[in-house]
Parts: sequence; structure tokens; C-alpha cells
Amino acid sequence: MILLDGKALASTIEKDITNEGSKLRNQGIVPTLAVVLVGEDAASCAYVNMKVKACERVGIKSIAKKMPENVSEEELLKIIEELDKNEEIDGILVQLPLPKHINTKLVLEAISYQKDVDGFHPFNIGRILAGIEAFAPATPLGVMNLLKNYNISVRGKNVAIIGASNIVGKPLASLMLNAGATISVCHILTQDLAFFTRSADIVCVGVGKPDLIQADMIKEGAVVIDIGINRLENGKLVGDVAFESVSKKASFITPVPGGVGPMTIVSLLQNTLLAAKNRKIKN
Ligand code: GUN
Repeated sequence: MILLDGKALASTIEKDITNEGSKLRNQGIVPTLAVVLVGEDAASCAYVNMKVKACERVGIKSIAKKMPENVSEEELLKIIEELDKNEEIDGILVQLPLPKHINTKLVLEAISYQKDVDGFHPFNIGRILAGIEAFAPATPLGVMNLLKNYNISVRGKNVAIIGASNIVGKPLASLMLNAGATISVCHILTQDLAFFTRSADIVCVGVGKPDLIQADMIKEGAVVIDIGINRLENGKLVGDVAFESVSKKASFITPVPGGVGPMTIVSLLQNTLLAAKNRKIKN
């Protein structure tokens, strides 16, 4: 079994981003990301802090906009519009989930697709689906980069994706389909999950249920990508895979923490650098 070391790979990619970023800075271009956070949700605050810190590490300027939980939809849309019009800003990220009184779809569509470094705008979603170059969401992009780095091709492989969210499962299915895989997207209503996972060469899971994937649910030599992040009562961070037993059967497996998580963050940085180049380097 080989551990897919997302932490090490992300750190290597961060060095490349830092180098490229400093070349841009020498040309007077400062890649800039606006991060919008509504409310005080602990997990969202932690993610936003991680993203801001990662920007600092690689020399991307970040602008954090924090708003109270009760901010009106109108006010939030006004702020997004200002960020969108601001020529200095290359990427805008609105941390999800938003409070219930705010229409997430309206907010995401208020970001112009050129600044949508999260890849959540329907324009970018559609282009990814059609196999056209676009910003892809950070987690699926991170998974694809991790597989690529370990020379794991998805072409002609059977892939089971567990979790059908707009942020992870659906875009990951699109990217893998475009790369030649046969995809089963499983979700909460899927009957006999093991039927799909057992026939999969690659299993990707991200639903937030510790120990969901057990050793008897995967075939010998499968590649296992754990996208789940769960904090146990004892404070330990675990994924959705029963790591101890599954790792004995898998050919490759991601650890949690240190697998997909760092790849997600670095993919956001890559998207932001790309947005800066697209917007600020005139051909
Ligand atoms: N909430 C959970 N994952 C994400 C993500 O990748 N981006 C944003 N903006 N919000 C999230």
C-alpha cells in the first residue's frame, strides 16, 4: 500500500506558486483573492483562516470580508458587486454554507466567472461538464492532481464516487468522466452502496460519516480517496474510510489529515494565480 501524501505534494506545488507569483510581482502584478465569510460557524472560520494563511505563505494578497450572520442578502450582494468591480481583485470566494435567509444561487451568480476561483458559477460548472477549460472546484481538482502525481490514470477505470454535492461529487464525476473513467455517483438514497464500491478500481468518498467505507466494501488493490473530514468526540480528525483495515487491501490510499485537505487549499491558490494571469497579463 502506498500513502497518497497530499501534504507533501501540496507543499511542493506551493513552492512553484510562490516562484510564479514572485515573477508576477516583478511585473507589478499582485495576485489577489477576496474571501467572504458570513457568520461565525466554527468550521467555516477555520477553513477561511486556513485559506488566508495559505495565501500569505505563497505571496497571494488576500482580502477577508467578514459579515455578521444576519447580514441581508441585499447587503451581501452589494459587497460582492463591489469586489467584482474592483480591478485589483482576481478571485472571489464566498465560504459556504450561507445562512438560510440568503439565496446561495444568487450570490454565486453575482461573481463574474473570470473571478470564480471556487468554480461554483453555473458558467464554470457547465464548461467543466462539457470538457472545456474553466475553473474547477478546488477539492475535485486537488483529487485529480494527486492521482496524476502518483501516475494513477483513471482512463478506462471504474470509479465509485460517494457523495453527490455540487462542490465535490458532481464536479469530480465530470472531471473523471472527461478523463475516460466510468463513473457511479452514489448518494444517500443509493441502495446497496457496497455493490458499487466493490466493483470500483477507484473509490472516492466525501460524505462526513466516519468508518462508512469498510474493508469488505472494496476490492483488493483498489485506490481509495478519502475526502471526508470528521472530528471525533476525542478530538481526533478522521475521514470516511476505516483506514486501518482498508489500507491493508488498498494499493493507494489518502490519509486524513494530510491527504485531500492540503490539495484542496493548494488548488484554490492555483486557481487564483491562473485568474491573475488571465486578467492581468495582456497578450
Ligand atoms: N464549503 C465547503 N467547501 C467549500 C469550498 O471548497 N469552498 C467554499 N467557498 N465553501 C466551501
